[in-house]
Amino acid sequence: MTITEEIQKLKKEKNAIILAHYYQRPEVQEVADYIGDSYYLSKIAKESDKDTIVFCGVKFMAESAKILSPNKKVLLPALDAGCPMADMATAEKVLEYKEKYPKAAVVCYINSSAEVKAVSDVCCTSSNALKIINSLENDQIIFLPDKNLASYIQEKVPNKEIILWPGFCITHKRIREDEVLQAKEAIEGLVVLAHPECEKEIRDLADFVGSTSEIIDFATASDKRNFLIATEEGVLHELKKRNPDKKFFTPRGGLMCINMKKTSLNDVRDALLYDKNIIELDEELRVKAHSCLMKMHSI
Ligand code: 13P
Ligand code: SF4
Repeated sequence: MTITEEIQKLKKEKNAIILAHYYQRPEVQEVADYIGDSYYLSKIAKESDKDTIVFCGVKFMAESAKILSPNKKVLLPALDAGCPMADMATAEKVLEYKEKYPKAAVVCYINSSAEVKAVSDVCCTSSNALKIINSLENDQIIFLPDKNLASYIQEKVPNKEIILWPGFCITHKRIREDEVLQAKEAIEGLVVLAHPECEKEIRDLADFVGSTSEIIDFATASDKRNFLIATEEGVLHELKKRNPDKKFFTPRGGLMCINMKKTSLNDVRDALLYDKNIIELDEELRVKAHSCLMKMHSI
């Protein structure tokens, strides 16, 4: 039996569902029942009727699934797969900001810990951040931890004051302006698609800015042929599958999130086989973080 067959067999036996983010390794995306961006996967985790959720992604994703589905077993195949950006915010610091800006609403990016979600008003992802912020009555918003997504939103919502937090994605930060410019010069008609976690100078060079699924949908719907993908290279797997006739380029040397790439097929099989790497949360903390995530889903 191949490892893929073994995973499929175990999945049935354990009444499990496998979710994978678009940044996961291609072979991991291939064994998943659902592949998607952070919002979509969180929605599937919330609505699934399976007993077990195997979350192929990073810790905040599996933690969010557990917050939304406390009665399910949530497994994170690579337990040390964290998100350095999520680690750039602590609940203590959020409380300090709240004291400094008492009239502001606290919006936390889903790339944050359960502790941070527990002290935030509402959660968001890159695909719904604008909608969430526009739905709030507050004129002042503390947005954390990503300063790049925050400044992108500020450009779109000039009537509100977005208070930035000094966090960023170490992966997207590696994209260089001169590389994008060189690529644009070298390839005629190149369309640049960027994630909002990119620095402003990269976003300003982009033809479209969106979440991982929005980037995939945009390229798929486009009648153009050449695209520079300014986000983690895992999205190329789905892009190429859906668009075999189009060409996708990456910034020089590619762009890999080492944490997203930690999950292997062996890890997925072992998680299922041994019920390994179960996500557990203190119930009081979970309940507090739940309202922040549920508010996002209800909006
Ligand atoms: P999305 O898939 O929601 O665009 O998120 C990107 C990301 O960085 C996840 O860590
Ligand atoms: Fe975190 Fe960036 Fe990796 Fe996403 S790509 S998990 S934001 S470090």
